[in-house]
Amino acid sequence: LARGVSEPDLAGRHVVVSAGGTREPLDPVRFLGNRSSGKQGYALARTAAARGARVTLVSANASLPDPAGVDIVHVGTAVQLREAVLKAAADADAVVMAAAVADFRPAVYASGKIKKKDGQEPEPVALVRNPDVLAEVSAERARPGQVVVGFAAETDDVLANGRAKLARKGCDLLVVNEVGERRTFGSEENEAVVLGADGTETAVPHGPKEALADTVWDLVAARLG
Ligand code: CTP
Ligand code: CA
Repeated sequence: LARGVSEPDLAGRHVVVSAGGTREPLDPVRFLGNRSSGKQGYALARTAAARGARVTLVSANASLPDPAGVDIVHVGTAVQLREAVLKAAADADAVVMAAAVADFRPAVYASGKIKKKDGQEPEPVALVRNPDVLAEVSAERARPGQVVVGFAAETDDVLANGRAKLARKGCDLLVVNEVGERRTFGSEENEAVVLGADGTETAVPHGPKEALADTVWDLVAARLG
């Protein structure tokens, strides 16, 4: 097929993609956040739409234009992302969690701006755990045969960490990136290994985020049958 022309192999399917990174507010002007740009998730949404899917994109704080032909839900925090993903997943054939979801949020939200006080050291910030959306979606499978995909950025023994995470989350596929200087965050390109719960391993060479997205949809489409 010519580049940019896709076979509509996801026609009649509803897919949910989460993208971006959650922000967990401390007070009205500050948050705990992460460096996820949202580009990989948006590439997944665009490529799924190009392949004929109905796409719900749950976007957390991505500074990117809304893609055409996609239903978009904008969220801020992990708790809001969970609600939007679970709602959209109820009738979804596939759920792809490309968003960077904060593991913790501040235990207390200060409704007024936190001020420093003369001669006083700052209070430590107490954190609590956020819900694990991927583990929850994987355990629930709102629809039989629903395919669930996670993303993980790892260092050190990337594949061993990825295998352990895939098992822990209970998803069907885990896209594992090796992170390091200048890699992955904010970049236009990506390189990954997609691990399957069935033991498969698909290497995706360094290239545009669209190419990785298309490989993910190939693997999802094969599992949807
Ligand atoms: N994820 C999620 N909810 C969370 C944390 C992560 O749904 N609270 C999803 C991410 O969207 C991603 C996958 O889980 O698809 C893996 O995220 P990662 O941060 O690598 O997993 P964790 O279990 O949080 O492991 P770690 O302790 O290495 O951060
Ligand atoms: Ca995490």
